[in-house]
Amino acid sequence: MKERILIGVAWPYANGPLHLGHIAGAYLPADIFARYHRLKGNEVLMVSGSDQHGTPILIRAGQESRSPQEIVSKYHQQFLDCWQKLGISFDLFTTTGTQNHAQVVHDIFLTLLNKGYLYKDRALQAYCPECRRFLPDRYLEGVCPYCGFSEARGDECDHCGRPLNPSELKDLHCVLCGSSPRFESSEHFFLRLSAFQDRLKEWVATQSHWRKNVAGTTWKFLNEGLKDRAITRDMNWGVSVPQSGFEEKRIYVWFEAVIGYLSASKEWAKLHHDEQAWKCFWEGDAKSFYFVGKDNIFFHTIVWPAMLMGYGGLNLPYDVPANEFLTIEGKRLSTSRNWAVWLPDYLERYDPDSLRYILSVNMPDTADSDFSWREFVRRNNNELVATYGNLVHRVLSFAYRNFDGAVPSPGELDSQSEALFHKMEIMLNEVGKLLYHCKFKEAIKEAMSLAQETNRYLDDQAPWRTIKENRQASARSIYTAISSLSALKTALYPFLPFSSEKLHSLLGFEGSLIDNGWRFQLPAEGQKLCQPQPLFSKLDEDVADRESSQLGSICNW
Ligand code: MF3
Ligand code: ZN
Repeated sequence: MKERILIGVAWPYANGPLHLGHIAGAYLPADIFARYHRLKGNEVLMVSGSDQHGTPILIRAGQESRSPQEIVSKYHQQFLDCWQKLGISFDLFTTTGTQNHAQVVHDIFLTLLNKGYLYKDRALQAYCPECRRFLPDRYLEGVCPYCGFSEARGDECDHCGRPLNPSELKDLHCVLCGSSPRFESSEHFFLRLSAFQDRLKEWVATQSHWRKNVAGTTWKFLNEGLKDRAITRDMNWGVSVPQSGFEEKRIYVWFEAVIGYLSASKEWAKLHHDEQAWKCFWEGDAKSFYFVGKDNIFFHTIVWPAMLMGYGGLNLPYDVPANEFLTIEGKRLSTSRNWAVWLPDYLERYDPDSLRYILSVNMPDTADSDFSWREFVRRNNNELVATYGNLVHRVLSFAYRNFDGAVPSPGELDSQSEALFHKMEIMLNEVGKLLYHCKFKEAIKEAMSLAQETNRYLDDQAPWRTIKENRQASARSIYTAISSLSALKTALYPFLPFSSEKLHSLLGFEGSLIDNGWRFQLPAEGQKLCQPQPLFSKLDEDVADRESSQLGSICNW
């Protein structure tokens, strides 16, 4: 039976270029998962978009002396370009700036209000007398009341990860000018998060398939007790508040951004001329997966589920397979210090599949992991090129030269060849199971182990030797190896879509790999091969030195 899978991916702030932390944290695992399910024949809807609102955009606009709209338009275009080059296959990547989004947000806001889950109250908001403006949470810094970290932000402590209210911070000051703000009271809407405490606990208790880090983080918040949160702000950039008296205020970015998953699904349905089509991904036995970085867990396992419970009728998240952090050359990634590898920059110079490979085998799925240029070059050369690319090239060149450019007939299989066929089936099965359970790193390792085994098989069978005295034995080994390449192109497709498609056509299969589905496709005897071409290229050793010396230098973005 076909499964219906909604894949929501965190909405990146359109205030700067994407970097490898974003990709390893959310976009690549989501894409691997989507490609696997599509190949399985399941129905997938993968959506996200640019997060256009919130203080991060305003800060950037201020820095670049441009309007917020100019900033978000520029980066939205850049994101679309990156997805295309890296092969991140969204069904829709929209923005939170659409009319459709505002409508869906207003619908949820008003429904929650009618049901008593939103209420109006006065709240103290920080006001900077020097800058003469209300300060959004991120313009505030102070000491975290829980862990004592001195650079906690108004909304969250980067050190212990707790969500904060600005008034809780000690030594509070304005990030822009350093002066101490005063608190002025103004009227806001609050989400009655406390009303969902028990229902959330009950629900989370049944999510035994969640990753440990995700369940652990969620329980920490639940056990500390949920506090109601203000969901409007004194600012003029964002989704309007559909209530009179609130013309000068906007809906808090986090409250509206998570609604993007629903508004994007509705937009996708409209674009496909079936306005109701979104429903089959949000109701009944459809499953929704949210791929986000670990700093977004709270909003996806607590706030968004609470909003959905309050709204009613739509599925809660099935899983939130949040990843841990990716460090760069051993240090925490920092965009402000330019300690980051920027995606547009990477894609100008290197192969998208090389990046997808290294971030997959080294994915921070259960613990932080590190990206270094030296490892990148090493794994590209020793694993992608030497273990896989060269295997493909030597098998196909040999067949091309010695068997008239076609797949030879195997004749009768010996036990070693039979064992390899067995391993192919097992591998494909195993990789499928691991992918189904979002175990991406293990899955690619399992797939690569077939490439290693096939290399060993060829070393033993030595078809380049047997061709001289026993042509049939050589044909058998080459047929078996070509079959193994066919299993690899399918198993590796979710990770390495570009080279898998290429291999599919080098092997002489018709059409696109996608049409063939997630199954072991045996090559036909006599099937015409294409003129072999290398799948990947080796990188010069000095790439590592050159690239890592750029880290931390002045950013030219
Ligand atoms: N823009 C937020 C960030 O980059 C993520 C928002 S995820 C969403 O941290 F679902 F809320 F949109
Ligand atoms: Zn100030």
